[in-house]
Amino acid sequence: MLSDKDRIFTNLYGFHDSGLKGAQARGDWDGTAAIIAKGQDWIISEMKASGLRGRGGAGFPTGMKWSFMPKVSDGRPSYLVVNADESEPGTCKDRDIMRHDPHKLIEGCLLAGFAMRAVAAYIYIRGEFIQERWRLQAAVDEAYAAGLIGKNAAGSGYDFDVFVHHGAGAYICGEETALIQSLEGKKGQPRLKPPFPANVGVWGCPTTVNNVESIAVAPTILRRGGAWFAGIGRPNNTGTKVFCISGHVNKPCNVEEEMGIPLKELIDKHCGGVRGGWDNLLAVIPGGSSVPMLPKAICDDMLMDFDSLRAARSGLGTAAVIVMDKSTDLIKAIARLAKFYKHESCGQCTPCREGTGWMWRVMERMAIGKAEPEEIDTLLEVTTQVEGHTICALGDAAAWPIQGLIRHFRPVMEQRIADYKARKVTRAQAAE
Ligand code: NAI
Ligand code: SF4
Repeated sequence: MLSDKDRIFTNLYGFHDSGLKGAQARGDWDGTAAIIAKGQDWIISEMKASGLRGRGGAGFPTGMKWSFMPKVSDGRPSYLVVNADESEPGTCKDRDIMRHDPHKLIEGCLLAGFAMRAVAAYIYIRGEFIQERWRLQAAVDEAYAAGLIGKNAAGSGYDFDVFVHHGAGAYICGEETALIQSLEGKKGQPRLKPPFPANVGVWGCPTTVNNVESIAVAPTILRRGGAWFAGIGRPNNTGTKVFCISGHVNKPCNVEEEMGIPLKELIDKHCGGVRGGWDNLLAVIPGGSSVPMLPKAICDDMLMDFDSLRAARSGLGTAAVIVMDKSTDLIKAIARLAKFYKHESCGQCTPCREGTGWMWRVMERMAIGKAEPEEIDTLLEVTTQVEGHTICALGDAAAWPIQGLIRHFRPVMEQRIADYKARKVTRAQAAE
């Protein structure tokens, strides 16, 4: 379990001053210029040493990503883009960071931006986050007024601007290339990678897109050292992580814990346990709606990190832990998610546009049992035709929850179909 002295987001749990004075009292903006004076190579090597993996869901090594940015300009400016379009169902950590610890994000923008020789950061915030946008903008204004960003940012001699840009409520605009399109004023639709944004990003310029949490932890890592962060968690899965725990627990919450914490400990310690006790657990979606669910038997010993969850054929994703007890109709729950992905598909590629709608319609029938048992295999087959055959990860995200359901709860689906048939026979007999 993470000790209090190792927590980065100390303001998440109360309503202390999230303004500049409060942030400085908690250690933010302390010695920022001295960190910058150590140079770009030092910052990137510390970030690599920390082992930080992207906190938006994909887990790509952050220091390595920053190192892809050009060291010598070919005339195009470089940009940092912060992905604050947090929309993954179950996920609400970036929202809390921006509400309660906005200065960690702004200082992180400056340090990350300097490390990648960027001239500015654009924080693309989800359209529905209206109060968070106000709070963030107020913190940006405070930072400008105090000389912490802008010309000669924090007295470092480096000029750096931070802009807050709000989206319009499209899930797909959280995909980094769709976000870039949207930031440019175009329709928010993903494009094929490569080229990766580090080569061709916003306005055709070198760009790194990072999640809010990834950027907000950077100042503390650079102050305390990469080795400190790497000493928390497990190899290849280092550091602290903000988990968002929702669903059938006694006290849903966001909490910063060490990577690799056992799922049961996470829920028991911070959420007052599963509603009705651990034995009442049916399944957990461990990393936001895009990853496959896991049944209780696997959850019993599950460690919450990228590699452990991948080995269990699921994923850490955004670390949004959705807990479902035995009262849950899992087929209905996954049918609801299928509807979400159908609604949010941008429609650009055929497997996703047609597949998400088809999977949703079949899942709606499965939920009431109005299907043939063989259709479960057809459904599974279609998910594999969508997975990996689309421009962006939304296709995979639509396929994986259904695959998880079939993998672990096929007998429940078969029983639902059998029950429906039995009711039909009874009704027919009654009508005779
Ligand atoms: P990805 O694996 O394609 O890319 C991850 C990052 O690494 C990107 O920034 C990409 O540009 C960079 N990258 C990867 N290979 C690279 C290379 N060879 N050269 C240069 N850069 C490279 O994953 P993606 O599509 O960005 O994210 C998918 C994840 O997003 C899912 O796992 C899901 O958990 C998460 N997600 C999060 C949401 C949220 O609200 N936070 C919403 C929906 C999904
Ligand atoms: Fe659009 Fe879906 Fe294709 Fe992604 S996978 S580009 S959301 S149609």
